[in-house]
Amino acid sequence: MDDILTIEGVAADRLASALGTPLIVYSERALEDRLCEFKSSFRHAEFDTQVIYASKAFSCTAMLKLVENAGCGLDVVSGGELAAADNAGFPMDRVVFHGNNKTPDELRLALKLGVGSIIVDNPIELTEVERAAADLGVCAHVIIRVNPGIEADTHKYIITANIDSKFGVSIYERDTVFEMARRAENSRHMRFDGIHIHIGSQIFGIDPYIAAVREISEFVSELEKEVCGVKVLDLGGGFAAAYVDGETPLPVSDVCSQILDECYRQKKALGLSVEKIMIEPGRSVVAEAGTTLYTVGYTKKTANKKYVFVDGGMSDNIRPALYGAKYRCDAANKMNAPRSEKVCVAGKCCESGDIIIEQTLLPKLEPGDLLAVYTTGAYGYSMASNYNRLPLPAVAFVKDGKARCVIKRQPYEDMWRLDADLTVDI
Ligand SMILES: Cc1ncc(COP(=O)(O)O)c(C=O)c1O
Repeated sequence: MDDILTIEGVAADRLASALGTPLIVYSERALEDRLCEFKSSFRHAEFDTQVIYASKAFSCTAMLKLVENAGCGLDVVSGGELAAADNAGFPMDRVVFHGNNKTPDELRLALKLGVGSIIVDNPIELTEVERAAADLGVCAHVIIRVNPGIEADTHKYIITANIDSKFGVSIYERDTVFEMARRAENSRHMRFDGIHIHIGSQIFGIDPYIAAVREISEFVSELEKEVCGVKVLDLGGGFAAAYVDGETPLPVSDVCSQILDECYRQKKALGLSVEKIMIEPGRSVVAEAGTTLYTVGYTKKTANKKYVFVDGGMSDNIRPALYGAKYRCDAANKMNAPRSEKVCVAGKCCESGDIIIEQTLLPKLEPGDLLAVYTTGAYGYSMASNYNRLPLPAVAFVKDGKARCVIKRQPYEDMWRLDADLTVDI
């Protein structure tokens, strides 16, 4: 085996010298395959289905093109994500607009651009949607977000959990949801399409989804009896990715077929009029396709630890600092060297919590060596910051032995491009 890590036939050291580090490298094939796997698995003879990629996990023009080409929809949660979709020429009728606090301006932009659905979070927002739609002379397709009282966390789920979530209206506030559906249904400027739920993230098994489908189907059944038909059920995202050894998410095809089969069982058993089922995977589409390449700088021994410092950190991957996320790594230019040292991989930011991997075995590393941290494709770049004025990293897609840069490294000047000294007339 070669000493140099290759990704889709491209050597890591050549990528690093061509584009610099930190560099987030995506296997374009893995992205395409995963989108295609979701699209072909999430099908059912009795339902229309739609796979909506949650763009918060990773968004850039090249990624949005892959999503478009795969025939998937797009979940956006802000005016910025919406504008990025528009800028990429993404078909707006496939866009769903989420968020617990969309501003009137964001709602107007969404309606002007003609988004497919607005996922309405609360009654006040419904009023705002109606006002904006009336002003613009359009009809807003509305899906109401219900907090189903089920919270899934990796392998477990808890019923009646998180009733204080900031997202959606609790399933226990039945009358509020029913009244929202009634208002949307009866408005000249809105159409009530259905109900949305999202139960958590990094969910490995199927049980939480099955429990959620049962719970929401009962609710939909009551809603249909008392108010109106529900055409769409949007079940959100949360499908797991494998970050470290021993993590084995259920195959996408199993998750998809079991969810749809349960939806169909519930439709039959309760006589529901639901015609369309949607899901919104984010992490599971992009996480495993991404690898971050860092250049190693100094190493340091302390009383109890040996640190390996890399040229990025929480500025390009805040997940370990934010919620203790775990990662695997390799010395990308010493793939065959014995892993003789127990080290802590730390970044260069001025925070003690700026750790990428708390403890791992690596070969003895020198300044200039390359470190590859795997499974960094989701919520890495999209949560990146300019903390300590570190520039945002570059991003490359690799496929069939070729690489293309899809996001340029941020130049220093970009960080003070918006600095100003302007008198404000008040
Ligand atoms: C409403 C909604 N849909 C989809 C997603 C994507 O979740 P994941 O990346 O875990 O699949 C999220 C994540 O926060 C979400 O809040």
